[in-house]
Amino acid sequence: MESTILQNLPLALLPWYQQNKRDLPWRRTKEPYPIWLSEIMLQQTRVEAVKGYYARFLTALPTIEALAACDDDTLHKLWEGLGYYSRVRNLKKAAQAVMTNHGGVFPTDHWDILALPGIGEYTAGAICSIAYDQPKAAVDGNVLRVISRITEDATPIDLPAYKSKVKAALEAIYPAQAGDFTQALMELGATLCGPNRQPDCASCPCRDFCGSALHGTAMQYPVKLPKKSRKTEKMTVFILSCGGKYALQKRPDTGLLAGLWQFPNLPGHLSTQEALSALERLSIIPRELHRQVTRKHIFTHIQWDMVGFYLETAKVSGDFVWLTADEINATAALPTAFRQFWEEISDV
Ligand code: ADE
Repeated sequence: MESTILQNLPLALLPWYQQNKRDLPWRRTKEPYPIWLSEIMLQQTRVEAVKGYYARFLTALPTIEALAACDDDTLHKLWEGLGYYSRVRNLKKAAQAVMTNHGGVFPTDHWDILALPGIGEYTAGAICSIAYDQPKAAVDGNVLRVISRITEDATPIDLPAYKSKVKAALEAIYPAQAGDFTQALMELGATLCGPNRQPDCASCPCRDFCGSALHGTAMQYPVKLPKKSRKTEKMTVFILSCGGKYALQKRPDTGLLAGLWQFPNLPGHLSTQEALSALERLSIIPRELHRQVTRKHIFTHIQWDMVGFYLETAKVSGDFVWLTADEINATAALPTAFRQFWEEISDV
């Protein structure tokens, strides 16, 4: 990658960042644990959505030791609604590795950090630079957008080789204030040079050397590979209630939403008659069908098209765990795909 143009970045970005950075909770610390947590939470998730989760998580689990010892249900509950739950399972595994292999102290060596579960090049670069001011780049979608616009590079940003090239080009120009530089790049990509709109080049500290600002080509970058289409799965979901208790099930320990809670469900869209017969086979005696709704939920690779039946049953029967609303709200992590059915009947 042509890096002479990028040599302008530190001098342009550092003062701009000092003046314009958002006051975010994880920017008030140099401790690796909260920085690590914030970077994991911020993957695929907006800053505004993360703030509350971040504060709650650190209050509940203020140390790596507490995280390593936390039971999975509590952990899932702290992550409930954030999505991509393997992130929090890996956080715990990594915390256990820090306890076992590093005496409970988060490592400072880039390779030791990269070896922890759930930590890839992006997260390792973010922690090394933000917590320790090491000259390591953290190249996420925001940074790729900024760099592809500045250099007017039409290489598809989804190619892993492009990311490596950008990382190497940036690491060649990293300043001593590495943490600020990492966050300044992210900040520019999250604010003035944001996605899917005309960037605010007039206010940008890079306007004098950015190819896209000089040539008015920002909307042509970044170039992306065509998206893979999502598979659609049809499902029938049962919200079964009996005397103020609701039927839940734990999902299997592996696969999508592993170990989280769900409402009982079956593949396919069942007619009312088929649904009632299927329930009888599960030892459920339906007494009254309150209502029927259709909902969908989009994951990265799959879309669920769901029909939900709200039913009163005669008994707390079947192979389910029957919990009160309070118990569900306090202890059971219901992922958003199922929680949307719950929110229609509870006041959470
Ligand atoms: N997105 C990813 N990491 C971030 C950070 N440290 N601050 C703001 N947005 C981010």
